[in-house]
Amino acid sequence: MKRNTEDVILVDKVAKTYRTRKLEYTAIKDISIAVKRGEFVSVLGPSGSGKTTLMNLIGTLDRPAEGRILIDGVNTTSLNENELSILRNRKIGFVFQSYNLVPYLNAFENVTLPLMVDGIDTKENLERGRALLAEVGLGGKMGKKPNELSGGEQQRVAIVRALINEPPIILADEPTGNLDSKTSDAVMKVLVRMAKEHNTTIVMVTHEEDIAAYSDRSIYLKDGVVEREKRLRK
Ligand SMILES: Nc1ncnc2c1ncn2[C@@H]1O[C@H](COP(=O)(O)OP(=O)(O)OP(=O)(O)O)[C@@H](O)[C@H]1O
Ligand SMILES: [Mg+2]
Repeated sequence: MKRNTEDVILVDKVAKTYRTRKLEYTAIKDISIAVKRGEFVSVLGPSGSGKTTLMNLIGTLDRPAEGRILIDGVNTTSLNENELSILRNRKIGFVFQSYNLVPYLNAFENVTLPLMVDGIDTKENLERGRALLAEVGLGGKMGKKPNELSGGEQQRVAIVRALINEPPIILADEPTGNLDSKTSDAVMKVLVRMAKEHNTTIVMVTHEEDIAAYSDRSIYLKDGVVEREKRLRK
């Protein structure tokens, strides 16, 4: 696949095989996807079709068996672990199925942790954390620890945490998987607004067409290949 300079993410003829002691399973076969800056792509498909595998590859948490993954034109397949972790910290906000909240920090502290780590915990940025939590319906729960929050509430904390330092790329694996439709809509509105304001590139896995409707383009996976695509806007 030829690289277009606007492409923030380029998945180029990628394959991924899982090997256990007895079995080999090719979860992704020859997938090519280009995502432009500011584009919001949704990934749909049946359980086991390779969606999470694809997200792990794009997020450089896993390496492809074949093909290349380019992030902002950089071929990540040739970077070492240290270089990859720098790239991830600078460029990618993850909203994954396991939330990985820090158990002894409350919702507000979890959300603003990335600001502390980056040394940008200014009054204004901390205030933004408060405002975002309120926007996703957690205004009254900022002082609660993860074990005092429901699954859906923890999920929303994890989403705000991924957005807080405005990463150029957001990768979200079923970000609304545990949420009711009203809360899902609130979360999607925050995501879309942040993306518009900062020209963020988003790849989001969902199995709900209503949620995919917020994206610019839907990619449908089946048995580890792209079955079809649907452009929704732009
Ligand atoms: N670590 C692993 N070792 C072996 N096989 C795996 C591993 N992870 C995933 N697989 C297999 O790869 C296939 C794709 O898995 P993947 O998690 O990408 O699916 P998915 O589309 O995200 O499904 P879901 O909608 O259920 O989350 C599945 O058949 C799964 O059994
Ligand atoms: Mg999955």
